[in-house]
Amino acid sequence: MEIVLPTALTRHVFFVILIIHLSSLFGVINCQTDMDVFAKSDKEIEYNTPEVTDSVSPTSYDTKLELNVSRILDALIASHDRRIRPNYGGPPTEVNVTAHVITISAVSEVSMDYTVDLYLRQFWRDTRLIFDTFDKHSESTSLTIGIDMVKSIWTPDTFFPNEKKSFFHEATSHNSFLRIDNQGNVVRSIRLTVIANCPMNLHTFPLDVQVCALEIESYGYSTADIIYHWHQANAVTIDENVHLAHFTIGDHYHIERTISLSTGNYSRLTTYFTFKRNIGFYLIQIYFPASLIVVISFVSFWLDRGAIQARVGLGVTTVLTMTTLMTSTNASLPKVSYVKGLDVFLGICFFIVFASLIEYATVGYISKRSRCSPVGKPTTAISYYELDDAASSVRVDSIKNNNRRSVRRVPMANSDIQTNGTEQSIPLLNLTPNHLSVNPAEPFAVRHRTRIVRPSKIDLYSRFIFPIFFLFFNVVYWSVYLNA
Ligand SMILES: *[C@@H]1O[C@H](CO)[C@@H](O)[C@H](O)[C@H]1NC(C)=O
Repeated sequence: MEIVLPTALTRHVFFVILIIHLSSLFGVINCQTDMDVFAKSDKEIEYNTPEVTDSVSPTSYDTKLELNVSRILDALIASHDRRIRPNYGGPPTEVNVTAHVITISAVSEVSMDYTVDLYLRQFWRDTRLIFDTFDKHSESTSLTIGIDMVKSIWTPDTFFPNEKKSFFHEATSHNSFLRIDNQGNVVRSIRLTVIANCPMNLHTFPLDVQVCALEIESYGYSTADIIYHWHQANAVTIDENVHLAHFTIGDHYHIERTISLSTGNYSRLTTYFTFKRNIGFYLIQIYFPASLIVVISFVSFWLDRGAIQARVGLGVTTVLTMTTLMTSTNASLPKVSYVKGLDVFLGICFFIVFASLIEYATVGYISKRSRCSPVGKPTTAISYYELDDAASSVRVDSIKNNNRRSVRRVPMANSDIQTNGTEQSIPLLNLTPNHLSVNPAEPFAVRHRTRIVRPSKIDLYSRFIFPIFFLFFNVVYWSVYLNA
């Protein structure tokens, strides 16, 4: 046992060492192939190795053509200085650009940006890449070459001034190509995802239209070296499958301009995408619920004045629900310091709901005051009238008979009372019939003074004023914001 274990171990160790040696051997081979004119990256070596073995075995049909192309490319690259732009010292290089948008996603008002996935194609002419066509049958020959060649020839240093972040697509290989024709015209196409900055004005949110730009410019070459142009009139195209959940993609247009920076003037291309927000989501999630809460608060006006618990409960619940709705809505929106269209609507809804709670508080207070006031002042005319109800009923017919006469007597009686000083000193039985006959409306007049408005009237008016106000507000709101 003691002998077997070490031998098994040494065998394992031997295999491990062998594997390490083999892998390092391959590594050396890789390093040697890397010292190439093309200065290739690791990825390309795997791709190019079979090509070498193919050319060695002269069995395939197009071997001659393939050798031709290889020789042409080698020759082009050997004499090409990729550090110097085409037409150096002469007029600026024209770089034409087209963009085909594959997807637009995540138009975000919180981070004020949008994500666009596009094919960016650049067209330019490099006279150093002119070669003799080897195909006798056609005038022009175009070669499509992989990304490897890009590292060997001059390419414009295009960038997106308003990008926040962008990346290439690498699956399954780098999503790009280079095409060269025998006239020296170069086409470079890259698939990119760009997260571009898009400052948004949310004054009319959610009935707003956002215009987002995508800018293209050379990082280093000023207008003396590179001029950008949109390739054709319809240089920017949007794939027909591009759909956004909460936006409708409207018109897009593009412009060319020169911008002035402290390092010089640069040629800049800009394309503008128009995003019209779809209101449906906000109608379903915010406008309808808010309107329903407002309507529920109107129910309070139809309830009995005495139903304190029901009416206060309704008022407080609707106020709290509106608060929650406003808070949750604004939680998913940027903290802008101006009033958005949605804020106006929710603010007015909140105001109405709040006002209906206050309305009940007013009704409750006034009815309480009018209930208490006769008890609080026992010396008023009302109390006499009410206390002496039984006595007056006895004399009703006599009063009716002497109505005219008693009216004439009234001032005297009244003056008597006043000259006597305190009302309490006058016997109730004497006063009441005169008082009643003199001015039967007087007790009610006194009542009217204590209750400025009747509580039932407040509820009655509210039933109409609140809904009419809400309806009127809706008409104004939608006509203003839909036309904005
Ligand atoms: C760029 O586009 C313009 C107008 O579309 C055209 O005249 C010009 O030849 C193009 N240049 C290149 C290098 O494709």
